[in-house]
Amino acid sequence: MKKLLCFAHRGASGHEPENTLSAIEKAIDLGADWIEVDVYAVERELIVIHDERLDRTTNGTGFVMGNTLEYLRSLDAGKGQRIPTLREVFDYVDRRAGINVELKGSETAGLVVSLINEYVATWGWRNDQVIVSSFHRRELGRAKKLDPHVRIGIVIGGFHRPYKKFVTQFTTYSVHPRIDLVNADFVRSAHERGLKVFVYTVNRSEDIARMAAMGVDGIFTDFPELVTKRQDL
Ligand code: G3P
Ligand code: CA
Repeated sequence: MKKLLCFAHRGASGHEPENTLSAIEKAIDLGADWIEVDVYAVERELIVIHDERLDRTTNGTGFVMGNTLEYLRSLDAGKGQRIPTLREVFDYVDRRAGINVELKGSETAGLVVSLINEYVATWGWRNDQVIVSSFHRRELGRAKKLDPHVRIGIVIGGFHRPYKKFVTQFTTYSVHPRIDLVNADFVRSAHERGLKVFVYTVNRSEDIARMAAMGVDGIFTDFPELVTKRQDL
């Protein structure tokens, strides 16, 4: 059976505060192949956090994009962790795993592509160690247009399920469907288009085994050990 890639969803967020360096460290300890993080741009700095608002995951309040960088960086994102910048994440991971950067906020594509270019040119990263993904097709397409070497993955959830037009327009590496959208036909059709299939968010062993049996290429999980220490091989 082919290797099932493990994407630590917001880091090992089942163990440590999501989208923090401690969640990333835990994910690497558990053997994750990839670390997935979510980004917004604030004052032209890429900030790693999932929600539009600060309230659920930090001791702050209000919108991420409605606050200053100084305020965001002063907050506790759980267990004393700060909200990291994407640059801190790249430095911290330092090629010990791949990084999947999910563009959540507007005006992120250009900044993310610049950062990838810098880490490829200067810090020994390769383009195949980074995947830029998004639900937001315009932002994702912009990333690909800015640099055709950047690998992109299209995320599919409740809205915008059809993805064929996008992948015809932009060379796309992978499709990232929500688990309930995945069946054998979905996987076959994506593979016929040359796309990898990475499924989110899969936190139960029986679902991981089911996805593997369908031939998906990887899964996003809050508990990387469910993939890296699988018993059903
Ligand atoms: O990219 C897969 C997954 O992370 C998308 O959903 O809401 O967890 O960012 P969400
Ligand atoms: Ca995400």
